[in-house]
Amino acid sequence: MKAVAGYLWLLVLISLCFSVKSKCPKTCDLALASFYVWPGSTLTLVADLFDSSAETIVDYNSGRIPNKDSVRSDIRINIPFACDRCVADQYLAHEFGYKVIGGDTYERVVSNYSSLTTVQSLIESNPLYDPNNIPDTGNLNVSVNCSCGNSQISKEFGLFITYPLRPNDTLDSIATSNNISADWIRRYNPDVLNFSQGSGIIFFPGKDPKGSFRPLTSSSAGLKGGVIAIIVVAAVVGVLLLAAGIYYKFYRKVDGKLISSEFEDQSSHHLYGPESSSDKAAVTPRKAGGLAGITVDKSVEFSYEELAKASDNFSLANKIGQGGFGAVYYAELRGEKAAIKKMDMEASKEFLAELKVLTRVHHLNLVRLIGYCVEGSLFLVYEFIENGNLSQHLRGSEREPMPWSTRVQIALDSARGLEYIHEHTVPVYIHRDIKSANILIDKNFHAKVADFGLTKLTEVGGSSLPTRLVGTFGYMPPEYAQYGDVSPKVDVYAFGVVIYELISAKEAIVKPDGSGSESKGLVGLFEDVLNQPDFKDLRKLIDPRLGENYPVDSVRKMAQLAKACTHENPQLRPSMRSIVVALMTLSSNTEDWDVGSFYENQGLVNLMSGR
Ligand SMILES: Nc1ncnc2c1ncn2[C@@H]1O[C@H](COP(=O)(O)OP(=O)(O)OP(=O)(O)O)[C@@H](O)[C@H]1O
Ligand SMILES: *[C@@H]1O[C@H](CO)[C@@H](O)[C@H](O)[C@H]1NC(C)=O
Ligand SMILES: [Mg+2]
Repeated sequence: MKAVAGYLWLLVLISLCFSVKSKCPKTCDLALASFYVWPGSTLTLVADLFDSSAETIVDYNSGRIPNKDSVRSDIRINIPFACDRCVADQYLAHEFGYKVIGGDTYERVVSNYSSLTTVQSLIESNPLYDPNNIPDTGNLNVSVNCSCGNSQISKEFGLFITYPLRPNDTLDSIATSNNISADWIRRYNPDVLNFSQGSGIIFFPGKDPKGSFRPLTSSSAGLKGGVIAIIVVAAVVGVLLLAAGIYYKFYRKVDGKLISSEFEDQSSHHLYGPESSSDKAAVTPRKAGGLAGITVDKSVEFSYEELAKASDNFSLANKIGQGGFGAVYYAELRGEKAAIKKMDMEASKEFLAELKVLTRVHHLNLVRLIGYCVEGSLFLVYEFIENGNLSQHLRGSEREPMPWSTRVQIALDSARGLEYIHEHTVPVYIHRDIKSANILIDKNFHAKVADFGLTKLTEVGGSSLPTRLVGTFGYMPPEYAQYGDVSPKVDVYAFGVVIYELISAKEAIVKPDGSGSESKGLVGLFEDVLNQPDFKDLRKLIDPRLGENYPVDSVRKMAQLAKACTHENPQLRPSMRSIVVALMTLSSNTEDWDVGSFYENQGLVNLMSGR
């Protein structure tokens, strides 16, 4: 039985990998960028922008460029590049490297690339840079979208031009000057309603120097599709078998280790796992998605009696914290550790429905809501996280100072949790109360984001409450504090403040030091320093408990990332997705840096060996 279950899991995991991958179209070696030659540019300059050579470009533009030393301006030329990247599992692009020239702005870079890229895309691709102040020595990633064809439309065409629309373009003019029928252009751009709109990108077939459209080779394209179809079918069958078979028959026999995987919350199967009671209702709410429908609602509803017993009648000794919504108690519930949040409010019907959804959201970097109770007041039952919150670690005198690499890891973990609720849940959540007290640390020093979804409580159930501007001062971006504008960028801002805390161990609002100075926001404090050339006073802001044990470069990069996150204009803040990517790079470069005496002294060696 175990073997069968294990095999099925393997099958599902493998097929998950493949089905995720198949969302992106197939990449290809060659695509063309339609570049509008602006006055004053030379072929060498253009070749430089596109990591190409003047000779190659001439090859692809027979007739339009008589020789490589004289290219007319105000014409378009095609520039070859590799369509080799899948972005966000959704579309294809290539990333060019661009060396910043003093005084460059993103707008200028976009026009250098004659609108083959966009300001928004530059912001997303370069999260470490302040969009309003690109460092003179910087290297930008410039992303240009591309296409490799679509066998559903036609197998005749496998080479495509990325064509930014310009003000005088019309469907007819594009068709005529590129020798392709208007009908093909329409069919390859079904979402474009107006080809005379003067901006935006379209794709249509182009020819290589030999005059070929490079047709899609039918065999390989067909096979690829077939393989994907088989994999998808296998995934579906696997999931169904899993749901039907394992769930009702084998589930209680599956070894906990088999279930534990990257896709599953580490501790999710403990509390109501195989070894818990035989109570039919006590079924683990499994991973969200395909299996969500199986969850038995009752499983997450507790009686007051049970919770009171588990927490020693909500005794003071069991109290672990007090927040804006209520008090938190430690409890031992059905043999496992839990944290019960006793709220100062009752739950509305709407919020109860919401809670059921929340119990199904599982992610390694989110504190899991196990269940709730609505007798008397509202109680929320969470998995217990052993190691307290980030604020305590940074500022509690009883805690060991955290090494730099742990801080980077905590930033990455929290970013992953936030990215998950911003992009991968249905409905999408905005946390609105990100702060170091809501980032909990587990026994392996990994971070989990707490309390997401609770802001909805005050929205729908708040009639009996004094209205509370959800959020915490020092973490609120200007557009939210002033106008109540809510977007995921509210969390990005607060996350930036948390990064500043990780660097400085200071509170989000730095209290006056008694010498009559006013209290100041951490954001302002860092901004003053980050606006200096060379950040010369940055050292003064770094947590003194780190001593000299940090890589300066990594700290600078974190500070720059935080600055980008706390940009006054929400649109210029990076998304959580690009923050995760930036932090992954940073953490892989920081990993082994501070192994050494620091750890031995602090006895923290084993902390870093987790995961
Ligand atoms: N699941 C949990 N496991 C362990 N400790 C927890 C858990 N949830 C909360 N705590 C502790 O209880 C404290 C109080 O939590 P609570 O969420 O009520 O307040 P807060 O986070 O300080 O503020 P807010 O109400 O704005 O979230 C937390 O700071 C944390 O230290
Ligand atoms: C590339 O395409 C995606 C998806 O259509 C779009 O969101 C993005 O803005 C495009 N990027 C550029 C640089 O045009
Ligand atoms: Mg909290």
